[in-house]
Amino acid sequence: MQTISKILEIKFRRAFNQLDIPEDSPILLVEASKPEFGDFQINGVMGIAKKLKLNPRDLAQKVIDNVELSPEISKLEIAGPGFINIILDDNYLATYISNLNHENRFGAQLQMGKTKTVVIDYSSPNLAKEMHVGHLRSTVIGDCLASVFEYMGHKVIRQNHVGDWGTQFGMLIAYMIERIDDGTFEHDISDLEEFYRKAKVRFDEDATFADTARRYVVILQNWKNEGTEGEKVHNYWVSFKNASLEHCQEIYNKLKIKLTHEDIAPESMYNDALDNVINVLENKHLINVSNGAKCIFFADGELSGGETTPYIVQKQDGGYLYSTTDLAAIDYRVNQLKGDRVLYVVDARQGFHFKQLFIVGEKAGYTTKDTSLEHVAFGTMTNEDGKPFKTRTGGTVKLIELINEAVIRAKKIVLERNPDWNESDREYLANVLAIGAIKYADLSKNRESDYIFSFDKMLAFNGNTAPYLMYAYTRIQSLLRKLYLARSSFDVFDFAPDVLPVHGVAYQKHQISSSLSMEVRIDEEFFKQTKIKLTEKSEHKLALQLANFSDCLYMTAKECYPHYLCQYLYNLSVNFMQFYESCSILRAESMEIKNSRILLAHLTAQIIKTGLGLLGIETVERM
Ligand code: ARG
Repeated sequence: MQTISKILEIKFRRAFNQLDIPEDSPILLVEASKPEFGDFQINGVMGIAKKLKLNPRDLAQKVIDNVELSPEISKLEIAGPGFINIILDDNYLATYISNLNHENRFGAQLQMGKTKTVVIDYSSPNLAKEMHVGHLRSTVIGDCLASVFEYMGHKVIRQNHVGDWGTQFGMLIAYMIERIDDGTFEHDISDLEEFYRKAKVRFDEDATFADTARRYVVILQNWKNEGTEGEKVHNYWVSFKNASLEHCQEIYNKLKIKLTHEDIAPESMYNDALDNVINVLENKHLINVSNGAKCIFFADGELSGGETTPYIVQKQDGGYLYSTTDLAAIDYRVNQLKGDRVLYVVDARQGFHFKQLFIVGEKAGYTTKDTSLEHVAFGTMTNEDGKPFKTRTGGTVKLIELINEAVIRAKKIVLERNPDWNESDREYLANVLAIGAIKYADLSKNRESDYIFSFDKMLAFNGNTAPYLMYAYTRIQSLLRKLYLARSSFDVFDFAPDVLPVHGVAYQKHQISSSLSMEVRIDEEFFKQTKIKLTEKSEHKLALQLANFSDCLYMTAKECYPHYLCQYLYNLSVNFMQFYESCSILRAESMEIKNSRILLAHLTAQIIKTGLGLLGIETVERM
C-alpha cells in the first residue's frame, strides 16, 4: 500500500515532467497547514518558477491543468503567490481507509526492498549505580523508536550499551571483598546507590583501600593471566554486574520497556577488540601522540564552532577509554550486525563526543557509504523551576522512586474518579495510567529541548496527555458497546461465543462487568458488508487523519521524533470529537451511514490503541 502523500507526489511529478520541469525540483508536498487550504498543499511551484524565470501563478495553473484528478483528487486550487491546495475525493478517501487494517499495519507496512537494519543503542546506564531519572529519556525514547521501526517492518537490533567497565568497578569490588572478609556482606546488593556511596567513602578516606581498588582494575583488565586472584576479582565483578542488571530489568519490567537480557551489549564486550582499533587507526596514519596519549586531531573546520579538541583513544598508561570502546562498537554494529542506520539515543550533552566519534569511525573505514550513524540527542529533564531534576537535598532521584511516586498519585486520581471500582481494577488502571503518563510526557515534547517534569501535568485528563488519549480511546469503545446494546435483540450475557456473530458491533461476553482489558470486536461480516461513506466535512477530516497514520510513522522513523506520533494521536482524538459532536451515529439518517460511522469510530479507536502501543503505552477498555 502506498501512502496518500506518495501517491500524490507521483501524480504531481508526472505533471511536472510533462511541463519539462527538471526531475530534481522539489515538489514540497505537505499536509495543509490550515483547513481552508484543503487536505494537502504543494509548496514547490514558487521556487521552481523563480529558477525558470516564470510567473509562479501561471506555472501553478499549468501544473493544475496537467494533473490527472481522478480518482484521488476532487479539486485543486491556486492560493496566494502560487501554492496549490489539494482536496481529496470523498469516495477515494473512503476506499483508501476501508483498506486499512492490522495486517497491513494501517498502511505503514513497508514495501519489499525498503526494509533496513536499524541498530538502536538506548538506555545504556552505567552499572556502578542504580538507574536514576537521567536514564529515563533514553530508555523511553529508544524503546518507542524501536517499536516504530519494527512495526513498519524494519529489522531492529536493540543494544543496551551498559557501562560495566572502568575505575569505579575496582572500588566496588574492593569494597565487596572487604565486607565479605569481615563477614558483613549480605550477598544481595539491594541498594546499589548506598553500596556505591559507602565504597566511595572508603576510597576517599583510606589510601590503602584506594590502592587496592586501583590494583583490582589492573587485575580485572588482565584477569586471565592473574591466577586465582584474577579469577576472584573477575567473579566478583560478574556478580556485581548481575545484581546491577537485575535492578535494571526490574525497572524495564515496571515501565514495560522491551529490553531484555539478550539486548545487553556491555562496554566490556569490546575489550578484546580495542588493540585492533588502535592498529587500524595507526595503519591509516590517523594517530598522533600528545603528552603520551594517542589522539586523533581534526583539521580546522572539521568540527563545528572552531573546535579542535582531539579525540583520545589511549591514555599514557596504556588504558583505553569510552571513546575507544565506541569505535569498536561502530565496527561491530556496521560490519557484524549489518546496521544500515545506527542510532545512539543519548543525552545531548554527549553531542561533541558523537560528532568526533562519527568522523573518526568513518575515517577508520568502519562505515560504508550507505551507513548512517545518528546521535538521537535529547535534552535534560528539569524541575518546574527549570533546574535539573534532583531530590530536595540535591541528590539524584532514583528511577524507581519516580515511578512509585507516579503510581501513588495515579491511585489517588483513580480512586476519586471511580470510587465504586474494586481494588484490583483500580490498582491495574493506576499502574497503566502512571507509566503511560511518564512516557507520554517525555515523548510528546521535541526530544531535543529540555523538558519540565510535572506529575500534575502529565496525569491531567485534559490537554495533550496520556490520560486524555487513553480516555478518548475508552469513550469510543464504550460508544461501540452501547451501540451494540442498542441495536441487538440478543441478550448479550446469555450468548456463549466470545464474539457475537451478528452484523454490528459485537463484543465479548463479560465486557462490561469484568476485566478492564477486554476489547470490543467488530465481526468480519460487518466489515465486509459495510462501506465507508463520507458525507460531512468532519467525516472527511477524520478520514484524512486516519489515512495519514502511515505518513506520520514514516516521518517519526525518518527523523526519530516520537513527538510527531504523539501530536498525530492527539489531533486524531480531537478530530474524532469534532466528528462525534457534528455527526450523530445513533440517529444517523440511514442505516448505511450509521454503519459507516461505526466503522470510522472503530478504526479511530484501533489506530489510537496501536499508536499508543508504539509509544509503549497500554490502553484499557474503561476508565
Ligand atoms: N553509559 C553511558 C552513560 O550513561 C551512555 C552510553 C551511550 N552509548 C554509547 N555507545 N556511548 O553516559
